[in-house]
Amino acid sequence: MSATVLIGSQWGDEGKGKITDVLAEKADCVVRYQGGSNAGHTVEVADEKFKLHLIPSGILYPNTLCIVGNGVVVDMGKVIEELESLQARGIDTSNLRISLKAPVVMPYHKKIDELEDRESHIGTTKRGIGPTYADKINRIGIRICDLLQEPEQLEKQFKKLVECKNRIIEKIYNEEGFDYRIIMQEALEQVNQLKPYLADTSFLIYESIKQGKKVLFEGAQGTLLDIDHGTYPYVTSSHPISGGACVGAGIGPTQISKVLGVAKAYTTRVGEGPFPTELMDQTGDLLREKGAEFGTTTGRPRRCGWLDTVILRYATRVNGMTDMAITKLDVLDGFEKLKICVAYRYKDKLLYEFPETLSILEQCVPEYIEMPGWQEDISSITRFEDLPANAKAYLNKIEEITGVKQCLIAVGAKRSQTIVNCDLFE
Ligand code: IMP
Repeated sequence: MSATVLIGSQWGDEGKGKITDVLAEKADCVVRYQGGSNAGHTVEVADEKFKLHLIPSGILYPNTLCIVGNGVVVDMGKVIEELESLQARGIDTSNLRISLKAPVVMPYHKKIDELEDRESHIGTTKRGIGPTYADKINRIGIRICDLLQEPEQLEKQFKKLVECKNRIIEKIYNEEGFDYRIIMQEALEQVNQLKPYLADTSFLIYESIKQGKKVLFEGAQGTLLDIDHGTYPYVTSSHPISGGACVGAGIGPTQISKVLGVAKAYTTRVGEGPFPTELMDQTGDLLREKGAEFGTTTGRPRRCGWLDTVILRYATRVNGMTDMAITKLDVLDGFEKLKICVAYRYKDKLLYEFPETLSILEQCVPEYIEMPGWQEDISSITRFEDLPANAKAYLNKIEEITGVKQCLIAVGAKRSQTIVNCDLFE
């Protein structure tokens, strides 16, 4: 059995797309299990850059089965856009499968997301993610399979739902509502275009695992954006942690053999919410500039700070992490000194575990250890042994603190700029 779940260990944007792409070369099947078009994965192959939001990055390999699971909220218009853009660049997309059970993101979800964020100031991506998941939990959402039912039945469902959403949009927010006929017509045209890709994806994944194929579950966002285990309310509305793969793909926990946590060599976050190691100075600006820390989905500048191992140890625990991938190590080239947060000072106490409540986290001050930096350009190094001694010491320190072995180190954005220390599908 060979099923690996890849997750983000911080607040998302850890470089999961690149690591997925490296692993996808060996995988037979790559599965998205949560989130939606709020995710943004950039993959660079040779001189080409691919930006994907919903389609798993495994699509760049012709023989890899790519699955959008039931736990993903699907903006069908965005999937069609991505399919067309991949096809225009000569990529074969026939291996994509989308769950019939996946909830559909409707135009009113995006509108409500935008309107609600004006009040809540969470800083969402405005892709309709929260409102679509809310409808699913409220049992009033429209799933892809619902769009395949008899038109009369569907029309009734759309009319009732859009009228209800319009009451919120018009009466509470004083904005213009939607015509349900237009929304329904557009959804029907889109589902028609996507028909060849729709399937019982839980079954396909189960069969792949049973046949001994290598299956990779590609988490989006990160541990601290998890609706239950993240920095609530500054989180997304799904389960990016490894447990989310079971529910969002329709597989049992006994099917998962490994959990790979992806961690950036420093920390970033987009949107609002506490961030203990955030640097509001020139060092923070330098990390942003060197790391090109601007959102793939929204273009927003990311907040940047030193590596926080309180977070990494927490991510190790809640994900049951077996392996780690460290990304963007090259961004730290040229720093004279590097800091690693090893605990938080809260009032007169030292905390080693990530606090349960936001009010405590907001008052935490990081306790740092300092490590010497390295001046060499490491971006073309392909073996761990060849890294500068200080870079090795930095990595070893992270391994010592987290207790998780590092199987991949990324030293640049390209596929080739990766140090591989083990075979994750072994
Ligand atoms: P939503 O997922 O659009 O509802 O946004 C909720 C929070 O999650 C906001 O702080 C977003 O910035 C953050 N978020 C959502 N997707 C990503 C991502 O892919 N990377 C980093 N942050 C994200």
